[in-house]
Amino acid sequence: MRIHLVAAARPNFMKIAPLYHAIRRQSGWVPVLIHTGQHYDANMSEAFFRDLRLPRPDHHLEVGSGTHAEQTGGVMMAYERVAVADRPTCIVVVGDVNSTVACALVGAKARIPVVHLEAGLRSRDRSMPEEINRLATDAISDVLWTPSGDADENLLNEGVSRERIELVGNVMIDSYEMLRTEIERDATPSALGLLQGRYAVVTLHRPSNVDRAESLGQLVEELQWAAARLPIVFPLHPRTRSRLQAFGLMDRLRSAPGVTLCDPLGYVQFMSVVCGAKGVITDSGGVQEETTYLGIPCLTLRDNTERPVTVSLGTNRLVRLDAFRDAVTVLVSGGWPVGTVPPLWDGHTAQRCVNSLQRRFGG
Ligand code: UD1
Ligand code: UDP
Repeated sequence: MRIHLVAAARPNFMKIAPLYHAIRRQSGWVPVLIHTGQHYDANMSEAFFRDLRLPRPDHHLEVGSGTHAEQTGGVMMAYERVAVADRPTCIVVVGDVNSTVACALVGAKARIPVVHLEAGLRSRDRSMPEEINRLATDAISDVLWTPSGDADENLLNEGVSRERIELVGNVMIDSYEMLRTEIERDATPSALGLLQGRYAVVTLHRPSNVDRAESLGQLVEELQWAAARLPIVFPLHPRTRSRLQAFGLMDRLRSAPGVTLCDPLGYVQFMSVVCGAKGVITDSGGVQEETTYLGIPCLTLRDNTERPVTVSLGTNRLVRLDAFRDAVTVLVSGGWPVGTVPPLWDGHTAQRCVNSLQRRFGG
């Protein structure tokens, strides 16, 4: 059985890696790594291959950046050639980035079974490009592997038949558990001058937060206020770095007391910094999940989340800008609500995916 595993952008690599390793352990199964090239900087791509013990991709499509149509269309054209020539048993796509929907479309039209890992998540906010990618990918995928019960319900409510859906759990947790020892040994926090439990980590990259000068300016002001109470370390996503520069906000942020800016961190380094933090301020999807798993307070600067279990069970809270200072005050005081870990976020999701592939395609 040949299985195409599609990875494209930073949050994809930690979803693909556990599955790659689990498939390789099956005798006679061949994982074929496809990198679309949506993310290409060394610290947004290569660093993760190293940390997650992934070999070089079998196919690198080198599509790069562009408008949504350019990127989605570019991936489709490049991947169609590979998929049709190789005709794998199935194609696994993960998450909700442009390359996810592009490769799912290619597979569906070439009549190659498509499996979506992290299916069924819904923010119900169609101004998010990812929500369009999720809806479209789930509509055309043959098998829908979900991380949590809410995702199953979303799919059933959309009329998806039950046999297409399998609750497998959260594969990101498999990556964390695979690298737990390295993460615990990593010394990045002290190298950055951070004191255990006495700083917050910030990650922001959603267009709704960083693409307009006015909203990014307000965010910078709020972060300055927060950093005066709890030092922050902010690894800058390339989108955010370029917007801070374009809007003339970089110097103000960089020179604010308590603010440490750095380049995007590798997975082990980043998780080590998160593990030592008092809390996290973010708009990332994956970081909402990782903090819930680790029981670390997470303040999400968004109006909605496609990952509601991180709020109902976990440590995540959605915070609008007008409530930001109150939320930071609670974080600093140590009064943040505690949470529990959602079912099947246990480090064994990749094995459940392999069992599913065996049942569906093994014969
Ligand atoms: C993409 C995903 C988003 C995901 C995020 C994870 C879509 C629509 N968006 O957003 O869902 O949360 O990745 O990080 O698929 N750039 C670089 N170097 C890189 C990659 C990007 O400089 O290696 C810059 C380019 O200027 C590019 C911009 O960042 O135009 C945005 O990159 P893109 O992949 O289009 O979107 P992200 O914001 O990264
Ligand atoms: N991450 C990382 N280094 C960083 C910031 C994030 O390794 O500097 C990891 C983080 O642990 C999580 C993933 O990247 O596993 C999330 O990616 P991102 O926030 O870019 O995308 P999203 O999850 O929002 O789609």
